[in-house]
Amino acid sequence: MASHGDPHRPFGIDFGGSGIKGAPVDLEAGDFAEERVRIDTPQPATPLAVAEVFAELLGKFPDSDGRIGVTVPGVVKHGVVHSAANIDKAWIGEDADRLFTDRTGRDVHVVNDADAAGLAEVRYGAAKGRGGLVLVTTLGTGIGSALVYDGVLVPNSELGHLEIDGHDAEKRAAASAREKHDLSWEEWGKRLTTYYRKLEELFSPELFVVGGGVSKKSQKFLHLIEIDTEIIAAQLLNDAGIIGAALYATESD
Ligand code: BGC
Repeated sequence: MASHGDPHRPFGIDFGGSGIKGAPVDLEAGDFAEERVRIDTPQPATPLAVAEVFAELLGKFPDSDGRIGVTVPGVVKHGVVHSAANIDKAWIGEDADRLFTDRTGRDVHVVNDADAAGLAEVRYGAAKGRGGLVLVTTLGTGIGSALVYDGVLVPNSELGHLEIDGHDAEKRAAASAREKHDLSWEEWGKRLTTYYRKLEELFSPELFVVGGGVSKKSQKFLHLIEIDTEIIAAQLLNDAGIIGAALYATESD
C-alpha cells in the first residue's frame, strides 16, 4: 500500500465547472498526501483545453509518478465519456483515458464524479463499513449519484436525470436550482423530499449520503427531507472527488 513520500502513490484530479483541483493521495489514510493545488477551469472547457491544465497541474508535483484518477461529470465507460449534461458537448464520444494518458505520459483513468465521491464516502467517509445498498447523491450544478452495494460500485447510475412530474430531477432539486429560483431551505426541502422519496421507492437503500458543496450546510436542510430511510451528510466534502478518483485509478484494470 502506498504511503506518504511514496512516489508511486496515486494522484486524484477533480474536474469541476470553476476549478480543476488535484493532489497525490495516501490511500491508507484516505487523505491527501500533499496540499492540493487548484487551477481555474479554462473556458470553454473542451477536452483539449482541460488536458493542458492537467499537464500544468501535474508539473507542480514533479515527484509524483503513480496512476492518475480524474473525475468527469458525465457517463464514463471504458474511459470514453458518453454524456455532457453540464459540460462542453465536445466531451461526448471523447476517449478521455487515451487523451489524458497521451498528453501527460501517465496512466490515467477517468471516472464519473459522483461515482468517485461515492467510492470515497463508502471507503473512508460517512458510509464507511456500511453494507447493503448505499446511495450517495451529490447536490451541485446537477445531481450526481453513486449506487454502492456491499462496497462495490455499480457505475453510471445517473439518478439526477430521473424524470419526476415531467421534469428532469436535477433541474428542480439540484443545489443550483435552489440558488437560481431563490428558494428558501423549506421550499428546497420539499423538492428534495419528492426526489428522495422517488429514490426510496425505486431502490429501498439502507442509507442515503448527501454530498456536494452544499452538504457543508446540511444542518439547514437535511431535517427537511421527509423520508423513512436514514439520510446523512457526506464527510469528505470537497475532498471526495480527488480521493475517490485516486482510489478508482488504483483499483482499475
Ligand atoms: C451528470 C452526471 C454527474 C452529475 C453531477 C449530471 O448532470 O449527468 O454525470 O455525475 O451531473 O455532476
